Amino acid sequence: MDEGVKALFEPRSVAVVGASRHPGKIGYEILNNLIEYGFPGKIYPINPKAEEILGLKVYPRLSEVPGTVDLVVVSVPARIVPDVIDEAGKVGAKAAVVIASGFKEVGNEELEEELVKRARKHGIRVLGPNVFGIVYAPSRLNASFGPTHVIPGSVAFITQSGALGIALMGMTIVERIGVSAIISIGNKADIDDADLLEYLGEDPRTRVILIYMEGVRDGRRFMEVAKEVTKKKPVIVIKAGKTEAGARAVASHTGSLAGNVKIYSTAFRQAGVIEAMTVEEAFDWARAFSYLPRYEDGKLVLVTNGGGAGVLSTDMLVSRGVRLSPPPKSLVEKVREYLPSFASLGNPIDVTGQISSEGFVRAVMDALNNDEVGAVLAIYCQTAVTDPMLIASKLVESVDLSGGLRKPLIVTMIGGEETYWAIQRLNKARIPAYPMPERAAAAMATVINYGRYVSRVRNLRNG
Ligand code: ACO
Repeated sequence: MDEGVKALFEPRSVAVVGASRHPGKIGYEILNNLIEYGFPGKIYPINPKAEEILGLKVYPRLSEVPGTVDLVVVSVPARIVPDVIDEAGKVGAKAAVVIASGFKEVGNEELEEELVKRARKHGIRVLGPNVFGIVYAPSRLNASFGPTHVIPGSVAFITQSGALGIALMGMTIVERIGVSAIISIGNKADIDDADLLEYLGEDPRTRVILIYMEGVRDGRRFMEVAKEVTKKKPVIVIKAGKTEAGARAVASHTGSLAGNVKIYSTAFRQAGVIEAMTVEEAFDWARAFSYLPRYEDGKLVLVTNGGGAGVLSTDMLVSRGVRLSPPPKSLVEKVREYLPSFASLGNPIDVTGQISSEGFVRAVMDALNNDEVGAVLAIYCQTAVTDPMLIASKLVESVDLSGGLRKPLIVTMIGGEETYWAIQRLNKARIPAYPMPERAAAAMATVINYGRYVSRVRNLRNG
């Protein structure tokens, strides 16, 4: 394990160079987040013009800090950064997060090279420059100027876009997606995706890794590391800069080369990396992976009270390489006992619009408890004879009573405001739920395809 990368996630002490006296300035907000998020180690604000900020003693320079400093967050203008790195080297820091913009992304390549040269000289690993910082929930570390509190969980999010990253950090709170880490990776002058993947691949608190990527620095190494990590946990990538104009925007944003779309997609596939086309897809899938057990094998069964939604889901699954076979006979016999005579008992099992809330949940649970079934997609359309919240609550209760999910279950609830709250209820209980059938079906296809990928690479290794 690289000591510098480890210090980035698990520092014993953090110094903030450029900790400002003024609320609203970046250096102030980073210090505030470190304190408010409850970092348990030592925090050293550095500012030659201040004596105390937010109740902490301030040091004029790093060399005057009385203890050791593992991680230095650098929030001073770009031109001062190389000198700060020299000072950090002298106090034995192992990693630095360089917040400042004004490097390669604006054509200032020399300054970026100088920064890396000095960091290498001192054996310091650098995150950035041009970043909003890092959050790592297991260490209670929020060294960023994003939101203060994130919901702790198992999704690690690496983002090459600062503003988008901060915005999505906020979204994870609204959408109740628990995160283990949020890392703004910026210009990737030193630490790149592969370094972070190596750490997060071994991190027991991270179950799924999500990357917003504009370009990679060392494609071969990324592939090698990703290939190993995807055997253990899913890696989802949103690759930006797919069009010519998009690629130009990437160059001026983080100074990266966006590269050829097809080459990226092929490389991702070969390394088992899951490519999402939109932010929505990426977060939908990350949620599903973070809540669900891995798909092993067995039939996927669709249970729906709405024929059309069942058809749309089927189309989405098939377009993503998941074929549907008839449901197990034992399941058909079981549900026939209580479903209306006109229910369609294929796959999807259409329980009809006449079904009650209890009947819908019963059919979903019967499918889930059938030994030949490997995954269930429950597709619910709001009707006057059912209550979305009752369905959600009963489903949560039944899953709990059966000892929790041992195979993937994904739910879609389509309808009005009541379905919105029912979806929240399900997500809170870690049953992934979505308001649109295509989104739920795409998430299910991704979960199944990844489960198959893992089985395939494991069989190859064992055979
Ligand atoms: N050591 C320690 N502190 C110092 C030093 C030094 N050598 N020199 C100055 N300071 C103090 C300053 O006095 C100031 O404190 P004060 O506010 O109490 O007076 C503080 O450090 C900050 O220095 P400023 O010169 O005021 O710098 P400012 O805070 O305005 O800007 C920053 C620094 C934020 C790094 C800016 O240069 C920058 O690059 N901003 C862009 C950041 C960004 O957007 N990052 C990209 C990703 S995120 C996204 O895209 C949303």
